[in-house]
Amino acid sequence: MYRTHTCGELRIAQTGQQVTLAGWVQTIRKFGSITFIDLRDRYGITQLLLGEELNNQLDQQPLGREFVIQATGVVSERSNKNPNLPTGDIEIKIAAFTILNKSVTPPFTVQDDTDGGDDLRMKFRYLDLRRNLVKKNLELRYAVNRAARNYLHENNFMDIETPFLIKSTPEGARDFVVPSRMNPGQFYALPQSPQTFKQLLMVSGYDRYYQVVKCFRDEDLRADRQPEFTQIDCEMSFVEQEDILNMFEGMIKHIFKAVKGIEVTEKVQRMTWEDAMWHYGNDKPDIRFGMQLLSIKSAFTKGGKLPATGELIAGTDFKVFNDAETVLAIAVPGCAEYTRKQTDELTEWVKRPQIGMQGLVFIKCNADGTYKSSVDKFFTEDKLKAIADAAGAKAGDLVLILAGAEERTRKATSELRLEMGERLGLRKKEEFKLLWVLDFPLFEYSEEDNRWVARHHPFTSPKPDQIEIMIKNSPVIENAAEYLKHPYANIKANAYDMVLNGNEIGGGSIRIFQRDLQEKMFAALGMSQEEAMHKFGFLLGAFEYGAPPHGGIAYGFDRLCAILGGSESIRDFIAFPKNNSGRDVMLDAPSAIDQKQFDELQIKLNLQ
Ligand code: AMO
Repeated sequence: MYRTHTCGELRIAQTGQQVTLAGWVQTIRKFGSITFIDLRDRYGITQLLLGEELNNQLDQQPLGREFVIQATGVVSERSNKNPNLPTGDIEIKIAAFTILNKSVTPPFTVQDDTDGGDDLRMKFRYLDLRRNLVKKNLELRYAVNRAARNYLHENNFMDIETPFLIKSTPEGARDFVVPSRMNPGQFYALPQSPQTFKQLLMVSGYDRYYQVVKCFRDEDLRADRQPEFTQIDCEMSFVEQEDILNMFEGMIKHIFKAVKGIEVTEKVQRMTWEDAMWHYGNDKPDIRFGMQLLSIKSAFTKGGKLPATGELIAGTDFKVFNDAETVLAIAVPGCAEYTRKQTDELTEWVKRPQIGMQGLVFIKCNADGTYKSSVDKFFTEDKLKAIADAAGAKAGDLVLILAGAEERTRKATSELRLEMGERLGLRKKEEFKLLWVLDFPLFEYSEEDNRWVARHHPFTSPKPDQIEIMIKNSPVIENAAEYLKHPYANIKANAYDMVLNGNEIGGGSIRIFQRDLQEKMFAALGMSQEEAMHKFGFLLGAFEYGAPPHGGIAYGFDRLCAILGGSESIRDFIAFPKNNSGRDVMLDAPSAIDQKQFDELQIKLNLQ
């Protein structure tokens, strides 16, 4: 037997017991003739005390960091207790030890506050994974996985695997492709998601499916995106949107309870996509704090519910506002006393290329009820007050205003809102705010191709009362500049996203399940009948054999774990992640392949 206990297990109650532990040497501290060793395994750290009688052996077989040893001894109460360690009350007085394997000096210290930089830790990820912090992340990931599976199992969902070597499933990214040796010149695509398979499973009658599954997308990477990532992918038959929202609200609440011990009792808040864009400038608003956008003037059509036509700035002479398509304001609480230096710095912040604005206008709502702004020349105090009031500002607040083209300005104001929320500490890691965003547009206009593309994916159904609009109108866009006037621009989808603290953690929709409507959808996306048959003939065919009404959702498992773990980066929650260029620096992949492999595949490289 290599060990009687783990390194995280022994307590004062076991004092006097003879035990054998095995693990990695984390630190060695020599005090005269005695040596202390912190021995580590997956479960924790236990202090070993090697007395004088082992000195000879230590001289002949010196120990080093990350050596794997086995040690036998007696559990003893420590004189110098460590309250920060669960095993901190005891140590093991070692009678004998064996080196099971040596280690060369590790490239960084394997402990929480390591001296290893990101690149080095990724290159030696197997060492990095020994660190407590990383281990905790993987433990959390496993807990989320278990909680999701338990919930889904209890609700009759069945885990069914779907293939990885498939034909392209469009989710809006590029495919990773795999050449086929047995079919020269032909390629499989790796699934961007199992979307079409889960729909086929509904046709087959498996009315509640789930899978914790890898998806592959060749897209630009960010902190919350990896080229291969994991979804908790689900689909249900005989459901309406409301059924899905309830079922998966249940799942997320179950995960919160099981993993974080947080009981979410209230219903998850819901917001339409239009409201999200209007009030937050963003389809995944962080609702942990207010600071909503005031549309002083806007090209974003929202049924004229709010004063967006410029009434607040009417009769003023400020060209920047008057010429702009959109003018948006936010009221930042308690910042009226910002100095010139601080407002200048904010102006520089919005001028950065990532934000791309020309400048920033501010109104200080002073505690004494006066208003001071960077555009005093053009605005009377009454006008400033009216804007500040409409933005919801109180005495002591600072109103920030951006003006420019609709899309850029809305995005920039949303970014500025998040930045100010961050600076003011309003985005607390341990506060969790869930949100359903509903009623997304069905289509998006692609300037590049001058055609409609699916906002979610081509299998998403329009709202039932809007199907007619799709059927009756041609998708052709006569005047690209006025695409917003095309009837398709207003069709809403039966689609929903779940948002957690400003991150899209899941998305899904009620699907089209009739062949003729699906064909109409492909046509609306500019696909010829032949192309539709070539790409999706299998699905159109299946829809002719009694496809039930169905819908589903997929959660970004890595993202969910990262947010629950309080991290920005999903990489911290993936055992072997890729870097921002999509490389596995440990494996050094991707890499060249042998000529023999090219020959077998009958492929010739023609690098440009
Ligand atoms: P969608 O494309 O919205 O939907 O993906 C679902 C969720 O997966 C996560 N996600 C990612 N996570 C890490 N890295 C990525 N590159 C990445 N891309 C997406 C997000 C997202 O909300 N088949 C549909 C689901 C459905 O309709 O049922 C789909 O894949 O958290």
